[in-house]
Amino acid sequence: MSALLELKNLTVRRGQKTLFRNFNLSLKNGEKVIIAGPNGVGKTTLAETILGFNPFEGEIFFKGRPIKGEKDFKFLRTKVGYIFQNPDDQLFMPTVWEELAFGPQNLGFPQEEIEKRINRVLELLNIKHLKDRTTFNLSFGEKRLVSIGCVLTMEPEILLLDEPSNGLDLKNWKRVRDFLQTTEKAVILITHDKELIQSLRWKVVYLTNLSLENLIEQQTNTGLR
Ligand SMILES: Nc1ncnc2c1ncn2[C@@H]1O[C@H](COP(=O)(O)OP(=O)(O)O)[C@@H](O)[C@H]1O
Ligand SMILES: [Mg+2]
Repeated sequence: MSALLELKNLTVRRGQKTLFRNFNLSLKNGEKVIIAGPNGVGKTTLAETILGFNPFEGEIFFKGRPIKGEKDFKFLRTKVGYIFQNPDDQLFMPTVWEELAFGPQNLGFPQEEIEKRINRVLELLNIKHLKDRTTFNLSFGEKRLVSIGCVLTMEPEILLLDEPSNGLDLKNWKRVRDFLQTTEKAVILITHDKELIQSLRWKVVYLTNLSLENLIEQQTNTGLR
């Protein structure tokens, strides 16, 4: 069976600079991968590229189907649930309940199904106590959990989380860790949280711009060659 998601020789540039070159990743159903790497290396850019928000070279496949044009990426965005690095960029509804309902409502599910999904997600993330809260009053950690929740209610096949444990208090850090530890979905987790990496024991892929080609390019640009 073909992989759920496959990235082949993905290269992304920003202006003159090559962020990463020939990045490969293959993710099977239920498989988990951590993408680590220093600040500024291009982890968020990689996530945005998977969702079709950046020009790139290389190939992206979902279940063997090539993802190329805007129509393909629109389809891919229904399969890959993206949890933004900053939860404030994700949340915009007045209450937690409405926030969690927004996605499935938009997908046209009946009210009964929406309520079932919300209750399941509240349980899964251990945040039942937040369901009637006003979104903008939540703490950063609570917002993080709700932002994971509003992606989960759309039931994507892959979760793509960008540094979800950053800046969390211990209680909410544990909620995020426990969720990641128990989810059966395929997950791409961008993080450099050492404790989280140690605790999950998932495969780690490093994103680096220290390729030989990049070093030569940098030397050429700085006149060293
Ligand atoms: N919208 C943008 N326009 C131009 N450069 C950007 C933009 N966003 C990020 N960058 C640059 O691209 C590089 C990679 O950024 P990013 O993907 O956010 O890295 P990471 O998530 O690994 O910290 C950085 O050098 C950053 O300054
Ligand atoms: Mg980032």
